[in-house]
Amino acid sequence: MDMGTTDVEQPRKAIVVNFGGQYAHLIARRLREAGLFAVLVQPEQLEDALRQDDVAAVVLSGGPKSVLEEEIRITPAIFEAQIPVLGICYGHQLIAKMLGGRVERGPGEYGDTKVSLLEDDPLLAGLDREETVWMSHGDYVAAPPPGFKILAVSERGYIAVMKSVERPIYGVQFHPEVSHTAKGRLIFSNFVEKVVGIRPSQRWDPASQIPSIVERIRAAVGPHEKVLVAVSGGVDSTVTAVLTARAVGERAVPIFVNHGLFREGEPEEVLSALKRLGLDVVYVDASEKFLARLEGVEDCEERRRIIGETFAEVFAEVAAKIEGAGWLAQGTLYPDVIESGAVKGADRIKSHHNVAGLPQWLGLKVLEPLRDFYKDEVRAIGRALGLPEELVSRHPFPGPGLAVRVMGRFTREKLEIARRASRIVEEELRRAGLHDKVWQAFAAVGDDKWVGVKGDARAVGHVVIVRVVQSEDAMTADWPELDKEVLSRISSRITSEVSGVVMVAYAVTPKPPATIEPC
Ligand code: XMP
Repeated sequence: MDMGTTDVEQPRKAIVVNFGGQYAHLIARRLREAGLFAVLVQPEQLEDALRQDDVAAVVLSGGPKSVLEEEIRITPAIFEAQIPVLGICYGHQLIAKMLGGRVERGPGEYGDTKVSLLEDDPLLAGLDREETVWMSHGDYVAAPPPGFKILAVSERGYIAVMKSVERPIYGVQFHPEVSHTAKGRLIFSNFVEKVVGIRPSQRWDPASQIPSIVERIRAAVGPHEKVLVAVSGGVDSTVTAVLTARAVGERAVPIFVNHGLFREGEPEEVLSALKRLGLDVVYVDASEKFLARLEGVEDCEERRRIIGETFAEVFAEVAAKIEGAGWLAQGTLYPDVIESGAVKGADRIKSHHNVAGLPQWLGLKVLEPLRDFYKDEVRAIGRALGLPEELVSRHPFPGPGLAVRVMGRFTREKLEIARRASRIVEEELRRAGLHDKVWQAFAAVGDDKWVGVKGDARAVGHVVIVRVVQSEDAMTADWPELDKEVLSRISSRITSEVSGVVMVAYAVTPKPPATIEPC
C-alpha cells in the first residue's frame, strides 16, 4: 500500500503565546478540538512564529505575572496583521495595556463568577444573558483601549469580555479553556468558526495527517536503514510502530521487552494485538533480570533508575543483533516536547524519563512521529489506523509499570497483589461502563496490615488502596464518586480473589496535593 502522497493540505494554525499559565496546553487543546490546529510558543518566539504564512489566529494565554510589574515583551505586530487575536486573563490585560487601556489592581475574582452579556457578538453566540464562568485574577481592565467596546461584565462590574470595533481583537477576563466555564467549548468553537472563519472542510483532523507523518518518516530514513521501535502495548508506542511500518515496511523493527511489571495478561494481549496489526515483534522476556534487581529496593526513584538502566541494557543487547539499525522511533507527545523545553528548573517530582537516554546509549538517531499531537489525537490516529478499541482506549500506564504501585520494600508478593487487584479494578469499571470515562484506575499496596477474619480464624492481611482518577492531562486529577455497588464489588472480589488481602480502601485525595501513582 502506498501512503506516500505529499499533497495533503497542511492545516492553518493558531499560535498560543504561553505566558506561563498552567492552562496554556488546555487552550491549544480546546482550539484543536474546535477544529483549528494550535501550537504553543514562548513570548520571545512570537515574532518569528508570525512570519509563517499559515497563521490564522493568535491567542494570548493567562499567566502568573502582572502587567503592572512586568515589562511587556511581545511584538505589537500581532495587532497590525489583521488576524484574529484573543487574549485570556493576563492576555486580556496585556491587550488593554498595549493598546492604551488602563489596568489596575483590585480585590480579585476567584472561582465561579457570574457575568452578564451586554451585547450580541459572534464570539458569544449561543450564550445566555447570564453565564457562570471561572475567574482567577487580581488585576483587572479598568478602562478598555480606545476603539474597544464592552461585551460582558462580571458581578463586580469588571470587564469580562471586550472587543475592538475595527479589528478582530478580543479580550476575555475569565478562563474559557477550563471545564468549570460551562460554555467555554462553545466560545472556542465560535472563535474558530465565526471569528477566524475556519470552514468545515478546513477543520483540523489529526487522522488526516497520517499520510504526511508517514511521508516524513520515509523521507528521514535512509533506504537501507532499520528503525527500532520500543513497544510497550500503550497506544503511543503502538501507533508509532504502525506508522513506522507503513513508512518503511519490514525495516521497522518493533521490540517488546517484558520487564515483568505489566498488568495481568498484558504481554500476551500486546503481542497478539501487534501481530494482528501485521507487526512482527521481537519479544524479549527479561522479567527475571528486572525483578531480581528490584527485590528489596525501597526507594521508587531508585527503582525507576534500575528499570531504566536494565531496559537500556536489554534493549542494547537485542539492538546489537539487528544489522543496519539506524533509528529509534519513540512515542513522544506534544506536552513532553513543550515541557522538556519550557519548564526549566521546575521541581522534578518524579523522573518519568523511561526510554530517554536510550538513543545516545545505542548511537541511534531519534524519530518522534507523534511529537505534534496530544494523547486524544493519538487515539484518533490509532482508530483511523485500525487499531482495536481495547488498545486505543487503554489507560495510560507508567513505563516502570507496577513497580510504582508497590509502596515500601519491593517484593514479588506485593507485585502480584498489585497486579491481580488492578485487574479486578479495571474489570469492574468496564462492567459498570466507567472504564473509558476515567483517566486511570488501579490498585496499589504497601506494608500496612489489617486484622481480618477468614472463616472463624484471625487472618492478618494487606491493605490495598484503589485509586481511580479523572484528568485531562495528568497534571491535575480528581477522584470520582463511584457507586457503592461498584466499590463493594471491587472490595469483595479483591478480598476473596487476591490472597493475603483483607482490607480495601478508596483513595479520596486529588492531585495536588497527592500525585496519581503512589510512588
Ligand atoms: P503522577 O504519579 O506523577 O503521574 O501524578 C502522572 C502520570 O504519569 C504516569 N507516571 C509515569 N509514567 N513513567 C511514566 O511513563 C513513570 O515513571 C511514571 N510515573 C507516573 C502516571 O501513571 C500518570 O498517568
